[in-house]
Amino acid sequence: MKTIFLPLREIPYDVLPRIAEIQLHDAGLLSKLGFPFVLKYFENAIKDEKAFGFYAQDDETKEIMGFSLASPKPSALTSKLTEDKVWFIKNILKVLFTKPITFFQMLISSVTIQNQMDEPNTIECVYFTVDPKYRSNKLGRTLQKALMDEGKKRGYKKIFASVETKNIASLKATQANGFTIVKTFREGMYHRHRLESEL
Ligand SMILES: CC(C)(COP(=O)(O)OP(=O)(O)OC[C@H]1O[C@@H](n2cnc3c(N)ncnc32)[C@H](O)[C@@H]1OP(=O)(O)O)[C@@H](O)C(=O)NCCC(=O)NCCS
Repeated sequence: MKTIFLPLREIPYDVLPRIAEIQLHDAGLLSKLGFPFVLKYFENAIKDEKAFGFYAQDDETKEIMGFSLASPKPSALTSKLTEDKVWFIKNILKVLFTKPITFFQMLISSVTIQNQMDEPNTIECVYFTVDPKYRSNKLGRTLQKALMDEGKKRGYKKIFASVETKNIASLKATQANGFTIVKTFREGMYHRHRLESEL
């Protein structure tokens, strides 16, 4: 099997739901908000001028296997979810009534994000996710490494990632890419490590 890596920005629009479907396997807040939020997030992300990422595709079957996304302004990507007010209110009310814990976690996370200033010359590895059937073959770390190489090419000096302390696979891949844990913090129900690497 040959795997090819392509820029996320060039992904055919009709394939984006597949990216959202893969992201739903992540245990993070965006996935808990549900498919419409995930799809909207990635629709915005591929149009965002500063965000960049890659997707991995099986060259024979053309199946999308995983992807990665980085941004120097991750909070701006999240804020874009609220730009279409009618869409946002309709969908967030659904979350409030069907998943109230997720709704309150979202409030806590938005306050945490607001308190995190974007750092100069720094990007965040916002997401890297691999379809469960392709995991443990070093695809995750290769997709994250692609962000590091591209970030360096674009002149950024540092990359960071927030990883849940119990997410062993992500911690292993991220540390194999040279990141080190600089702090551990709580964000509502999430316990996270912040990991950083020079580029
Ligand atoms: C994190 C993720 C992208 C890693 O993808 P991957 O292709 O499996 O990554 P890699 O093969 O490069 O590395 C994973 C490592 O964790 C190990 N691993 C996988 N699952 C594990 C588990 N449940 N417990 C312990 N180790 C595990 C793998 O064996 C591998 O170990 P190695 O370093 O000895 O080779 C993937 O697990 C995933 O998509 N998770 C859900 C989304 C997510 O959590 N993303 C990160 C958000 S911060």
